[in-house]
Amino acid sequence: MINLVLFGKPGAGKGTQASFLKAQFNLIHISTGDLFRNHISNQTDLGKLAKSYMDQGDLVPDQVTIDMLENEVDQNPQAKGFIFDGFPRTEAQAEALDLFLAKKEMNISATIALEADDEILIERLLERGKSSGRTDDQDEDKIRNRFEEYNTKTAPLRAYYTNQNKFHSVNGIGTIEEITTRLTHLINSL
Ligand code: AP5
Ligand code: MG
Repeated sequence: MINLVLFGKPGAGKGTQASFLKAQFNLIHISTGDLFRNHISNQTDLGKLAKSYMDQGDLVPDQVTIDMLENEVDQNPQAKGFIFDGFPRTEAQAEALDLFLAKKEMNISATIALEADDEILIERLLERGKSSGRTDDQDEDKIRNRFEEYNTKTAPLRAYYTNQNKFHSVNGIGTIEEITTRLTHLINSL
């Protein structure tokens, strides 16, 4: 079984790359951002709660996010492995994930960071914001707040996974195909 964490700032290409990797390696792709957006579309209570944070570019509180993620893993008992996209994003989430997987005799195989500069990411997100309907993509201040949340709460996970010898970095700048090739080489070498 292979379980990957795709790590990186907003707009780094986690979702884009996960869609190729899941097919290539036969993995279930779980994006907590996508799950929240589904809840928002379905107007659930969780969706209403999540929206109040997401619209500002703030992280949703840990416990509701962890519960949602664990529920999604539990829905896929036959999975050959998972790509976790946008989760964990805090140390509390990383610890919860390790504990949860350990109970199932599973673990994280590798955490792979897609690296790109803020200015490139802002361009990508503003461009998508023209058509995506995502309110958090439409305003540069909100995008910068998402980066701020990343820098303060998520970036410390680099050390968390480095301490477990699981942290890998990939250049996230280039064509989508080039980056898929870099990721494929890395995953094949794990
Ligand atoms: P989430 O949906 O995870 O958003 P994000 O990480 O902020 O950013 P994106 O999903 O936009 O980036 P991505 O890295 O997936 O890039 P993508 O492939 O889409 O989270 C949204 C919100 O939900 C959070 O702010 C938070 O409120 C909440 N949330 C989610 N998870 C949470 C958690 N664990 N804890 C608490 N709160 C949580 O690409 C971006 C764009 O760039 C696309 O248009 C794409 O086509 C383009 N692109 C991709 N690759 C390239 C390339 N190589 N060259 C040119 N363009 C490219
Ligand atoms: Mg995404």
